[in-house]
Amino acid sequence: MSIPRHVAIIMDGNGRWAEARGLPRFRGHLAGQDAIREAVNGALDAGVEWLTLFAFSTENWRRSSEEVKALFELFEIVLREETPQLVENGVRVFIIGEREGLPSSLKEAIAEAEQISRKQSKLNLVGALNYGGRQEILKAARHLQRSGEPVTEESIRRGFYLPQMPDPDLIIRTSGELRLSNFLLWQSAYSEIWVTDTYWPDFTKEEFARAIEVYQARERRFGGIPQR
Ligand code: IPE
Ligand code: IPE
Ligand code: MG
Repeated sequence: MSIPRHVAIIMDGNGRWAEARGLPRFRGHLAGQDAIREAVNGALDAGVEWLTLFAFSTENWRRSSEEVKALFELFEIVLREETPQLVENGVRVFIIGEREGLPSSLKEAIAEAEQISRKQSKLNLVGALNYGGRQEILKAARHLQRSGEPVTEESIRRGFYLPQMPDPDLIIRTSGELRLSNFLLWQSAYSEIWVTDTYWPDFTKEEFARAIEVYQARERRFGGIPQR
């Protein structure tokens, strides 16, 4: 089977990675920056067109205010530190999710990363930040209610954060949890799912390549009956 056009990753297990080492949870988030680079390089090597990384869910606000604040600071640092190299590698950056409620300096870093990478087209890297699948569907429904357009799959999609983003072919989740946690609910209708026990900070481009191999051995049916 072909290379997945869109791979989406639920980057989970930072806290447990840190706890296993007797470190504060935040050290796990810090170590996750290397894994982001690994995933991006894995996607570039494989020739994937879209890579989405779930960084912060609408439910992650339930964590302590210290952890939330530290995560937002880290996202800003990652965006500012990584974008120049990403641009050099032909990567365009997008961020999906609710901007409202994010610190203004983070919103500025997002706008800047999107702006300076806008001419790149080798890989589209989408950060899902303050993102919830239900919230995205609600946003689309409200958009339709206002516009009065007929309700179709296409018109619903037009109300999503990034209408041009194709559905993920493959969703990877690290740290062994078997759930979607409100990630890309509409778009994951026929995604293949692959879960690894590896904690996110230990994720490598080799493991990314392995996930693609597993995907390539899968049979996607989309509700039909395979031709034999
Ligand atoms: C994923 O790691 C990062 C975010 C959700 C922001 P976690 O922080 O959820 O790590 P665990 O699941 O507690 O190990
Ligand atoms: C999912 O991880 C969200 C992100 C990776 C950003 P969580 O750690 O928040 O998921 P649950 O709470 O275990 O479902
Ligand atoms: Mg978690």
